[in-house]
Amino acid sequence: MCGIVGIVGSQPVSERLVDALKRLEYRGYDSAGVATIDGGRLKRRRAEGKLINLETRLKEEPLAGSIGIAHTRWATHGAPTERNAHPHFTDGVAVVHNGIIENFAELKDELTASGAEFRTDTDTEVVAHLLAKYHRDGMGRREAMHAMLKRVTGAYALAVLFEDDPSTIMAARNGPPLAIGHGDGEMFLGSDAIALAPFTNEITYLIDGDWAVIGKAGAHIFDIDGNVVTRPRQISMVAAYMVDKGNHRHFMEKEIYEQPEVISHALGHYINFIENRVTAVSDAIDFAKVPSLALSACGTAYLAGLIGKYWFERYARLPVEIDVASEFRYREIPLSPQSAALFISQSGETADTLASLRYCKEHGLKIGAVVNTRESTIARESDAVFPILAGPEIGVASTKAFTCQLAVLAALAVGAGRARGTVSEQEEQALVRSLAEMPRIMGQVLNSVQPKIELLSRELSKCRDVLYLGRGTSFPLAMEGALKLKEISYIHAEGYAAGELKHGPIALIDENMPVIVIAPHDRFFDKTVSNMQEVAARGGRIILITDETGAAASKLDTMHTIVLPNVDEIIAPMIFALPIQLLAYHTAVFMGTDVDQPRNLAKSVTVE
Ligand code: M6R
Repeated sequence: MCGIVGIVGSQPVSERLVDALKRLEYRGYDSAGVATIDGGRLKRRRAEGKLINLETRLKEEPLAGSIGIAHTRWATHGAPTERNAHPHFTDGVAVVHNGIIENFAELKDELTASGAEFRTDTDTEVVAHLLAKYHRDGMGRREAMHAMLKRVTGAYALAVLFEDDPSTIMAARNGPPLAIGHGDGEMFLGSDAIALAPFTNEITYLIDGDWAVIGKAGAHIFDIDGNVVTRPRQISMVAAYMVDKGNHRHFMEKEIYEQPEVISHALGHYINFIENRVTAVSDAIDFAKVPSLALSACGTAYLAGLIGKYWFERYARLPVEIDVASEFRYREIPLSPQSAALFISQSGETADTLASLRYCKEHGLKIGAVVNTRESTIARESDAVFPILAGPEIGVASTKAFTCQLAVLAALAVGAGRARGTVSEQEEQALVRSLAEMPRIMGQVLNSVQPKIELLSRELSKCRDVLYLGRGTSFPLAMEGALKLKEISYIHAEGYAAGELKHGPIALIDENMPVIVIAPHDRFFDKTVSNMQEVAARGGRIILITDETGAAASKLDTMHTIVLPNVDEIIAPMIFALPIQLLAYHTAVFMGTDVDQPRNLAKSVTVE
């Protein structure tokens, strides 16, 4: 995480650097800072907390200079204080960094022994000290940069200024993304093309191991051995405009209410509504032939993948191996090169997901990316890209990306079933007709459930713990409900398979424990009702989210029942996701938390 930018040109840069940082705040908002070279001297302004604090600081103490680097931080090493905020300065060198220098402790000991004085608790500071030392010891700046890169291990996107060269930014990438932007007499550097969109759409992406020397007329790129390399210049399609909240209080609220529209775009890409069939969207993965499928992702995207597993297994009879990406790559799963792997990621930059992708690639699997950001590293490194077309998702809590991921996975599973002969033409048409109904039903649910949800959220906001239960595809949805609630309201919540309750979690049930049960009237309904009986018998407070048939069939005394329309099983996860998202949202609003930028989190997680 963390976002970095740099500009080298002829006009003052600090305001534009901050403007670019605003587009990167999704990568972290613990602190921010800018450094420029002005009158031959390195200068910086830094501030703890959100970018607005840095803007205020810059208004009080403006920063001149036509070359500069800047950073928005998600703290890894060292508390989120101004002292630990980037850029880090040492002896004529300024550094901003996204990633983790894994051997920092050993380097710090070595540098300290040779007289270096460390002023921060960060891993990054070793980079500044190494560069300063090598330069002091007589190496040229490029030589020092190359020597430093040979010493550090771990993940990094770096931007460096040397005080004695006010015309050059040096940059390096190993892991987190880094893009060079080509301007007219100016050059730019950024963690992504979105940050650079107001300045240029001509982008060169560095690949792992690359480092670059960037002047206002252009950039020279080298590989880790110091050889000059050429990387393609491409036109970025990302939009320069900043998305606003419209009439909503938070981006999260706006994004929840956008779902009928964006789902309809997503479905339009995968479905032929005239013939009621799934359209083939890529030749790179032949679902008819693959013996199995591997799925991996993190957080909400993983939970979407878990629901996808149910669908691929049910409709396409395709065995699915799935795990969170941080475990997947280390499990030493025996993978067949004939298989395919799908990686699900809103940002397309999540470090663990990318590492799992590379692991599967090394094992010869065909790679598919289910992503929102088509220019992301995960998309670029995949054989097939399945866009989810959710549009920019700004709220840290994923909402519309989740349901769009689900819509795409559902379409792919039905398409795979058809290709494998496990779904007949009639079944495909029926499933597609159900999917096509989704935007309308979503709109209906969003228009009707709000008053009840608000009432319930007020009560939840007073609770310390909440349990979510579900069976079948409602089980991952229960985990998603718990994740959503805890990440934005900070209430402790857990999602369990309803049948698993009696194997331990039931010990938590008492009259203070709200238990949210997600139970559409599907083939598991009666079993889930039995689990609710077990909760009720122990005084637990049940909040039932069901459909009209389920509400009529359940004779239980619940604290609240939220009734949704009856829907076909394949679209139930997307429809039932809505009250779950709204419940988390309104609870957080009652609690007064920072809904769009909850504490300790970032939208894009580019460290392992
Ligand atoms: O960008 P990605 O989809 O790869 O991100 C994965 C997770 O970090 C993300 O889903 C996270 O769990 C969200 N904050 C959940 O709302």
